[in-house]
Amino acid sequence: MPGKNFLFVPGPTNIPERIRRAMDIPLEDHRAADFPEFALPLFEDLKKIFRTERGQVFVFPSSGTGGWEAAITNTLSPGDRVLQSRFGQFSHLWAESCRKLGMAVELIEAPWGEGVPLDEYRRVLTNDSTHLIKMVLVTHNETATGVTSDLAAVRRLLDELQHPALLAVDGISSIGSLEFRMDEWGVDLAVSGSQKGLMLPTGLSIICVSEKALKISKTAKSHRYYFDFSQMSAANAGGWFPYTPAMTLLRGLRESVNMLLEEGMENVYKRHGRYAKSVRAAAAAWGLNLCAKDEVLYSDTVTAICVPEGIDSNDVVRNAYNRYNLSLGGGLTEVAGKVFRIGHLGDMNELMILSALAGTEMALCDSGIDIKLGSGVGAAARFLRGSL
Ligand SMILES: Cc1ncc(COP(=O)(O)O)c(C=O)c1O
Repeated sequence: MPGKNFLFVPGPTNIPERIRRAMDIPLEDHRAADFPEFALPLFEDLKKIFRTERGQVFVFPSSGTGGWEAAITNTLSPGDRVLQSRFGQFSHLWAESCRKLGMAVELIEAPWGEGVPLDEYRRVLTNDSTHLIKMVLVTHNETATGVTSDLAAVRRLLDELQHPALLAVDGISSIGSLEFRMDEWGVDLAVSGSQKGLMLPTGLSIICVSEKALKISKTAKSHRYYFDFSQMSAANAGGWFPYTPAMTLLRGLRESVNMLLEEGMENVYKRHGRYAKSVRAAAAAWGLNLCAKDEVLYSDTVTAICVPEGIDSNDVVRNAYNRYNLSLGGGLTEVAGKVFRIGHLGDMNELMILSALAGTEMALCDSGIDIKLGSGVGAAARFLRGSL
């Protein structure tokens, strides 16, 4: 098919030309004498993406899932109790990884489309008077359902109950796009990945660790080697890595951080908010409901849209791809066939959004959904013009 693929899955995302060029370089000697001049400022600047002064950032060569594993194995010991809630595919998988890594998971089920169940967290943590729970996990942005949870509220709850559990956050589809404040929200472990808001190829997990979590990592007993904070920290202190770093991706990461900081994180958050609202205006004009159950939960990086009864959302995704070269996200497990997802994060502008909405409209009609062509595009365009 001539023309380009329109990539609107919620990660991997579009890679800006600037980042592509920054990565189009010969491989480099990661033990060259001047390597720390590149690495040390990068570690410092990454902190600005996480909004931390006190935390330490680690960059591992892995996808986001490796970041989950690093967070868990560095700070917990086998059998440790952790509190997690499941309200989508990624919160489900993180809980699964904890279980497989030998933790005792106190799992709270919440309907898919809801966010972190604060009342249930309150109940469980209140009953945990001897502080057996060592970690509270929160999936900040549940990419499967388009739901963003209130992290500050979880921190307030832990503080109010004076519960010392670590607060671990999956920020894989939020950090670098949505408001995220490591220090202010008292997050202890924040896991991110390269292929979403950071606009890079897959292959880096970037983790920010609080002083408290770092201290705990010195005595935690889970086995780890590749993802060991202590060996990474010792090497990073001098601007080195303990093994061959993914140098090309690091060059891309440098450029990505430059781009985000040039725009300013507050502007990055605002931009994502604006584009998300335009997509939601389109969904409303189509008369389709969102998977997220409440306005306060709406994600500004991904919108999961429900299809009417009797329609298979996989048809929408298939038609979008096969007929219009538009990649949309499908529904995962519990919401398979019921929702499709539009990712609107990373390198994005108004006309890209409108193109994706135009393709989505055609695919919706092709899949037997009775919407008026142009209705969503028009609503989004009106919103975008009116909110300049
Ligand atoms: C919220 C969230 N967590 C974890 C993951 C898994 O990350 P990866 O596929 O990079 O391992 C994803 C991937 O989409 C995600 O969206």
